Amino acid sequence: MRHPDENSTPASFSRDHIQTVGEVFVDNARIECRMVDVHYGEKHAIYNVSLDVGRNEVIALIGPSGCGKSTFLRCLNRMNDTIPGCRVTGEIKLDGQDIYAEGLDVVPLRAQVGMVFQKPNPFPKSIFENVAYGPRIHGLASNKAELEETVEKSLRRAGLWDEVKDYLHHPGTGLSGGQQQRLCIARTIAVNPEVILMDEPCSALDPIATAKIEQLIDDLREHYTIAIVTHSMQQAARVSQRTAYFHLGKLIEVGETAQIFTNPRHQLTEDYITGRFG
Ligand SMILES: Nc1ncnc2c1ncn2[C@@H]1O[C@H](COP(=O)(O)OP(=O)(O)OP(=O)(O)O)[C@@H](O)[C@H]1O
Ligand SMILES: [Mg+2]
Repeated sequence: MRHPDENSTPASFSRDHIQTVGEVFVDNARIECRMVDVHYGEKHAIYNVSLDVGRNEVIALIGPSGCGKSTFLRCLNRMNDTIPGCRVTGEIKLDGQDIYAEGLDVVPLRAQVGMVFQKPNPFPKSIFENVAYGPRIHGLASNKAELEETVEKSLRRAGLWDEVKDYLHHPGTGLSGGQQQRLCIARTIAVNPEVILMDEPCSALDPIATAKIEQLIDDLREHYTIAIVTHSMQQAARVSQRTAYFHLGKLIEVGETAQIFTNPRHQLTEDYITGRFG
C-alpha cells in the first residue's frame, strides 16, 4: 500500500479516513476514487469509499444485494447524473483528471468509460449500425472504409465477427442473448474506451454464453481496465485480479482475488464468501 499523493487528493484526505481493509491503492492507477459518498435524496447509499483501479486490471465488485455495487460503478462514468436526486461527493480521477470537474462534458467521458448492462440492450438497428453508431457520432471515422474497419475490428475484439460477418445488415435484436451481449461489448469498444464497466453482464445468459463472455473479459484486459459487478463468486474468482467487497454501502475489504476468496481478513467478507449471508 502506498500513501496517496497529497497534491492529487482532497485537502482533508488522509489514510485515517480509510475504513477499508486491504490494498486500496495501486501503483499503476487508472481510476482513483477518494472519499466518495453517494446520496439518493435522504438515502445514504455509499459511505466514504476510497479505491484505485489499476491499468490492465479486472476488478470484481461483490457483496449482498443493495450494498451499493451498481451505485458505485455508476459513479465511475457519471451515470448517476441521470438519476434525479442522486448526489455524488468526493473525488474521482481518470488518468489524473477529475471526472466531476465543473464544465466537463460527460459525452466523451462515457465513451472513455463505457458501460455494459445486465440485460443486453442492442439498438433496434442492424448489427453493423449498432457498432457504427458511436464512432459516427463521436466523429471517429472519416470515411466509409474507415467506419467499416472500426466495425470489423470491434466485432473481432468482442469475439463475434465470425458469427455475424455474413449478417451485418440483420437486426441486432435477432441475435441470441449471448451474442447480443457481445454486440453490446463491441459497441462499447468501437469508441476507443479506456475503461469498461460491466454490471452483472452474464446474469441473463446461459452457462455457455457466460463462459464466452468470461473468456472475452480476460482477453480484453490486455487493452482495457475493467470493473465488473457480479453475484457469482465463481465468476469473480475466474475473471478478476482484484476483488472489492461491499457491505451496506461501505467498502469493507479489497485485495487480490485469490486472497479475498481463500484468506479474507474481515469477518464480514468471510461471512459472505462462505455463504453465511448474501
Ligand atoms: N434510483 C435510486 N433511488 C433511490 N435509491 C436507490 C436508487 N438506486 C439504488 N438505490 C438504493 O441504494 C442502495 C444501493 O443500491 P444498488 O442498486 O447500488 O445496490 P447493488 O449492490 O447494485 O444491489 P443488487 O445486487 O441488488 O443489484 C440500495 O439501498 C438501493 O435501494
Ligand atoms: Mg446492482
